Amino acid sequence: MSAVGGGAASGGSGVGSGVDWDGLRAAATEVMRRAYAPYSRFPVGAAALVDDGRVVVGCNVENAAYGVTLCAECGLVSSLVAGGGGRLVAFTCVDGAGEVLMPCGRCRQLLFEHGGPDLVLQTVSGLRTMAEVLPDAFGPDDLASRSRSGGS
Ligand code: THU
Repeated sequence: MSAVGGGAASGGSGVGSGVDWDGLRAAATEVMRRAYAPYSRFPVGAAALVDDGRVVVGCNVENAAYGVTLCAECGLVSSLVAGGGGRLVAFTCVDGAGEVLMPCGRCRQLLFEHGGPDLVLQTVSGLRTMAEVLPDAFGPDDLASRSRSGGS
């Protein structure tokens, strides 16, 4: 089975085991309540476990110029880097009701940069790896291996 089932994986020995998913979800829900979303009225909170044990969070921050909106994941990644960096190992994102929300496409790319294919996400269909929700992703390795291959 390619997807990592939510219940079994969170408590058993599979991918995502050993992660306090309830605690991560609670952290995401708490920060969601601080979202600045006066335009969409769609608050979002995100929380992730870092490989050094830190938990980083973020909420969406909208703008009167709608396209300038920062997704919750943007704040989370900014906090990760500003707090010393590290690799994301487990991630969850919630909507205004505290229900699991899938990160948008752009934010999957953002998360891939800092967690790679093995980052485990709580999704609407259980625990899944980044490799499953962003297959064959473009990333830092592509730049390293191809940067000199196409130029003149
Ligand atoms: N949003 C996020 O914060 N993260 C996502 O992955 C999906 C969308 C926010 C952006 C905007 O403020 C609101 O949700 C509605 O799109």
